[in-house]
Order: sequence, then structure tokens, then C-alpha cells
Amino acid sequence: MRSGRFFQSYSSRGAAFWALALACFFLLPGMGEPPLTEAKTVLITGSNRGIGLEFTRQYADRGWRVIATCRHPDKAANLQALAAANPYVIIEQLDVTDHAAIDALAEKYRGTPIDLLLNNAGISGGLENQQFGRINFSVFRDVYAVNVVGPLKMAEAFIDHVAASDDKKIMTVSSSQGSIANSTGLLYIYRSSKTAVNMAMRNLATEVVDRQVIVGLIAPGATKPAFMKGVPTALGKPEDRVKGMTEVIESFTLDMSGSFIAYDGAPIPW
Ligand SMILES: NC(=O)c1ccc[n+]([C@@H]2O[C@H](COP(=O)([O-])OP(=O)(O)OC[C@H]3O[C@@H](n4cnc5c(N)ncnc54)[C@H](OP(=O)(O)O)[C@@H]3O)[C@@H](O)[C@H]2O)c1
Repeated sequence: MRSGRFFQSYSSRGAAFWALALACFFLLPGMGEPPLTEAKTVLITGSNRGIGLEFTRQYADRGWRVIATCRHPDKAANLQALAAANPYVIIEQLDVTDHAAIDALAEKYRGTPIDLLLNNAGISGGLENQQFGRINFSVFRDVYAVNVVGPLKMAEAFIDHVAASDDKKIMTVSSSQGSIANSTGLLYIYRSSKTAVNMAMRNLATEVVDRQVIVGLIAPGATKPAFMKGVPTALGKPEDRVKGMTEVIESFTLDMSGSFIAYDGAPIPW
């Protein structure tokens, strides 16, 4: 009888101990955060300012783990502040023209599924460098290195990470300025770079469909004059445009792969 009571109280104390130990193991490291196993992962290029910073903020707010890459983390005060307030924002140094660095980052994250590779980094080249008759071909090469070669190299390096994830998406921030059908002159370098990345990604979509990887091109519309100089257009707020683009990204399915869609869900003519 006595030994039975002892056993009873021993086993309830034991159960309490194990319950506490399990709670400490699973809950304490990430108190208040969604369990790591449930969080989706996005890797964003050019995440220190503009649209990339806003993407980082919005995905972090949704509980995603964000691998936020930028060229100069030490100078990225706004991104650092975001990461300080959110343990799921991880900052990594990356220049998308540095292919060895892209390979090294892919190696560092080998085995980590990446639900969304978001090629956001992009440069305009400046209006003054792309006036017909005075085109700066050195800038032409620089813009292509960032806007065209960068996203394709990122896709090449991270395809296995994306294919191993649940969502399996590679999205590239293009521009309506890359539409051949809507071309109205000016911005030769920038426009043709976005047209070229559209082709690269559309091509990629057909090649990775058998791995169920979804490739998309999204356009924010104008939020700042640098990308639209000389092209009359109304400017939107980055937070609204990014909200729209995250909804478009969410809506992408395999049968839409290779599409070119604006922030408001409207298809853009090639
Ligand atoms: N905003 C618009 O009106 C608009 C319209 C259509 C399309 N877009 C596209 O949207 C994307 C983001 O534009 P945004 O308005 O946010 O531009 P932004 O404010 O000028 O930011 C550009 C981002 O790209 C990064 N970047 C530049 N060169 C890079 C490189 N070699 N490696 C890695 N990162 C690099 C910049 O980093 P640093 O700070 O180190 O320079 C910065 O984080 C671009 O692809 C752009 O073409 C923008």
C-alpha cells in the first residue's frame, strides 16, 4: 500500500519533471515565436533599402525567416534595426555581381530549404547614361551584371534549396519598363535589362517545371523617380506596392510559372 502510494506520487512527480523538461526544450528557445520547423524561408537580395527593405519587413511580420542580403551590412542601419527587433531576420553580406560569394552563400545554406528566392536588387543606370547617341556602354555592362546576370546566377546557385522547400518559388522583381509591347523610348539600358531578365526567367520556368519550381516576374510599378526618369508616371508607396507583390507571389501556382505580373495582379504584356 505504502509502496503503491510512493510509486503513484513518484510517477506523478516524474511526469511533471518530464513535462517541464520538454516545455523548456521546445518553448524557451523561441518563446513567442512560431516553431522554427513551421516558419517559411525567403532569401532577398538588396534588402537594405527601398523595396527590398520593405519586403524584409513584411515577410518578417508574417512570421517568415528572412535571409536578408545586402552589399554593406555595416552601413545598413534600417536593416540592422529590423534584425535587432526580429530574431528571424538574418543578415548576410552579398553583392550579386560577385559569383564566388553567391556560391559561398549557397554552400553555407546547403541543406536549408528556401521557399522563396526573391531577386530584388536592381539598378537603373541613370538617365544621363542612356540617351541615344551618348549611351555609356560601361554602365550598360554594369546594369546587366546586376539586373540580368545576378538573378540568373542566384537561381543557379540556389535551385536545390528552392526545390527542397514547400513553396518552391523563384521570383524576380522586374519592371513594366521591360515590356517591349509598351515601349515608349528612353531608358535603353534599364529597359532592355528588364526585358532580358524576363526572357532568362521565362526560359528558366520551362526548365525547372519538372522539379515543381515556380518562376515568376513581378513589377512594383513606380515608387521612385530613378527607375522612371523621363517616363511620366505616378509614384506609389513602397509598403503598398510590396503588399501587392507579396499577394501576387502568394497566388503564383505552377501553371502560372513564367508569367509577368504587376503588383496589382494585372498581367503585363511582353
Ligand atoms: N522603385 C521603382 O520605382 C521601381 C519600379 C520598377 C521596378 N523596380 C525594381 O525594383 C527593385 C528594387 O528597386 P528599389 O526601388 O528598391 O531600388 P533602390 O531603393 O535603389 O534599391 C536597390 C537595391 O539594390 C541593391 N543593389 C544594387 N546593386 C547591387 C549589387 N551589385 N548587389 C546587391 N545588391 C545591389 C542596393 O544596394 P546598395 O544600397 O548597396 O546600393 C539596394 O538595396 C529593382 O530591381 C528595380 O529595378 C523599382
